Amino acid sequence: MSIAAPEPGENMGRPEPRIDGRLKVTGEARYPSDVAVPNPAFAFLVTSAIAKGRITSIDLESARVVPGVLEILTYQNIGNEIHDAPLFSAGGPMGTTIRPLKSRDISHDGEILAMVLADTYEAAREAAYKVGIHASVEPPSAGFDSAGTTTEAASEASKKHEDPRVGDAEGALASAQVVVDVEYNTSTMHHNPIELFTTTCLWADDHLVVHEPSQFVYGMKNGIAKQLNMDPAKVQVHSAFVGGAFGSKGSLTQRTALVAVASRRLNRPVKLVATRDQGYTIATYRAETRHHVRLGASADGKLVAYAHEGWEITSRPDAYLVGGTEDTCRMYDFGNVVTHVNIVHADRNTPGFMRSPPETPYMYALEAAMDEMSAKLGLDPIEFRRMNDTQKDPITGKPYSSRSLMTCYDEAAKSFGWSKRNHAPGSMRDGDWLIGWGCATAVYPTNIGPATARIRLTSAGKVRVETAAHDVGTGAYTVIAQMTAQRLGVKLENVEVVLGDSSLPPAPVAGGSNTTASVGGVVFKACDAIREKLFRAAGSSNEGPLAGRSAAELDLVDGAIRGPSGETEELEETFKRLGAGVIEEYAEFTPKGQSEGGVGKLYKGTPVLSGGSSGDKLRFAFGAELVEVRIHARTREIRVPRIVGAFAAGHIVNPRTARSQLMGGMIWGIGHALHEKTEIDERAARYTNDNLAEYLIPVNADIQQLEVILVPERDDDLNPAGVKGLGELGNIGTAAAIASAVYHATGVRVRHVPIRIEDLL
Ligand code: MOS
Repeated sequence: MSIAAPEPGENMGRPEPRIDGRLKVTGEARYPSDVAVPNPAFAFLVTSAIAKGRITSIDLESARVVPGVLEILTYQNIGNEIHDAPLFSAGGPMGTTIRPLKSRDISHDGEILAMVLADTYEAAREAAYKVGIHASVEPPSAGFDSAGTTTEAASEASKKHEDPRVGDAEGALASAQVVVDVEYNTSTMHHNPIELFTTTCLWADDHLVVHEPSQFVYGMKNGIAKQLNMDPAKVQVHSAFVGGAFGSKGSLTQRTALVAVASRRLNRPVKLVATRDQGYTIATYRAETRHHVRLGASADGKLVAYAHEGWEITSRPDAYLVGGTEDTCRMYDFGNVVTHVNIVHADRNTPGFMRSPPETPYMYALEAAMDEMSAKLGLDPIEFRRMNDTQKDPITGKPYSSRSLMTCYDEAAKSFGWSKRNHAPGSMRDGDWLIGWGCATAVYPTNIGPATARIRLTSAGKVRVETAAHDVGTGAYTVIAQMTAQRLGVKLENVEVVLGDSSLPPAPVAGGSNTTASVGGVVFKACDAIREKLFRAAGSSNEGPLAGRSAAELDLVDGAIRGPSGETEELEETFKRLGAGVIEEYAEFTPKGQSEGGVGKLYKGTPVLSGGSSGDKLRFAFGAELVEVRIHARTREIRVPRIVGAFAAGHIVNPRTARSQLMGGMIWGIGHALHEKTEIDERAARYTNDNLAEYLIPVNADIQQLEVILVPERDDDLNPAGVKGLGELGNIGTAAAIASAVYHATGVRVRHVPIRIEDLL
């Protein structure tokens, strides 16, 4: 065991190394743009240099004469082969309804205006820079402070959003002994997965093959079919490995259909690898948000009211919204709650999924306000949370299926040495360094969806699992193999897992941290069908060591069937009785509380997920993050020498991959708190630091001690695998914890992220 492979605690599996790790570190893993296709043409995008206007003319002459150029697609010649598809958030596949090359209108910076196709990448790129786009420019609205934006209530804009409320929060605030009334801002962020946004398309007769990194191959298959008006059975999407996604590869994007049409027109495979800066405007991002939070409490620290109004930026046409009050309103025993979310339409590309989309900005605001209230009350921020902890929903009264938040705080505090904290701001110092200790809560809803899989077991004990789930770097291949191996009693190395291909049985979008729960459900179901067949064959026989045993008495262990007194029959023997060399089972899993139609919807590429507050109980994973910051007394340089995060998420299938997810989340949280901000030119509504040099992210030198504590938790009320998703849990809370530590070190409240040196001068 090592730090990376923690000793499993109660209710945890083995910290197995990733079964695809060797493929990845040796370069054998083929990411979609690595897949060799015969005689490809290369595509290069021409994107808009203005945010709002209309194309008046397009000059292609000097581009066309670049040697090797084959074709240049623009709105003038694309024809009408591409149709609209509905937005993901409306149950469709698309991340945006802005469809490039549809008309001469330009609706945001970096919109795709043309696609150049050539024999080489270099020729396509050279020609793309020679395409002359002439446009009439209109003044764009860049964001919250721009003229010309329109604001609408989230509950009006989306059928899915309701503003949770209970009791009389205004009345309770008016009479509360202590009130915190504050505003917070968060910045635009881009996820920048290291694998760029790529698409390769080829046609075989009327069948389309797409190689594209995807978090939802069934969504893409059905969405592309809809856009191209073809039978989904004739579309195959391959995405075996994904080089980071974070939400950016969850929905169908604008480029896929363009590449498919180009390939059909050229009668040749076409490969597109968009550039890093293009990724800022052709994929999703986290839009900036604003918050007005009010908390009311009694003088001894009991909360009586929580009011939260949020504002989120979105594009002109799309009502993309995250509405994180849905979760924040259930975090503590608030008494009275009122929430309201607004969306603000500006001339921007449509935002979209980015790791823990609702919780990251909204929990930052709530937890920062909780810290302000604890300071005002003169209470230890952990004790303040304990006084207001709840095991039931303050809105509906429903119980949490399990909630180990305070155990997480206690475990983290013990390891951190929190008891040595002097609560007065500015009271802890080490030479020139001002020391601050802060904390915040992490939370993520436990989502689950319908899933299907095919599992095949051979008489030699080899297993193949086929399901169109996705491993976006999280370890899904490994945890699916572990769950299968455990259920079928075979060694891990005997399990082969095939994912990320739309010709396999469908699995949900790799979003909302649902994969382990959903795929676990169907893996157990398929394995149980295999077990049943084997047990019946072994037990119903008139001979052999297990003759006469009922299925309930038997188990699969170490590649053999074992009876209650340890008597065993080798698999080969049982297969002989069955007269078969393999058993193959296809299974469909519908989570409890969901309607049976979910599997059918999944086949059609419609995502179905439930969880969090939507069921009979509240189902959430929790964590507590404690951080130390050191701020240089003279330069105000901000360092984060250590973070301790303790997390409880039900059964942990693999402590190594779980730790890795949580650690990565906390590192991202440091980026959220101190580094990341997409800068926008307010006059032009254009992103100005759309590259990895100027978009600041934490690097190794920024990360010192990070401790992940996996708190044992058992919850049999969740799903067959007993897991709470944790892929998105770790980066929630970090920013608020750092902001509270900055206050503790300096006495300065900074109410926006990222917090930078200039905020502390
Ligand atoms: Mo995650 S933003 O749900 O892909």
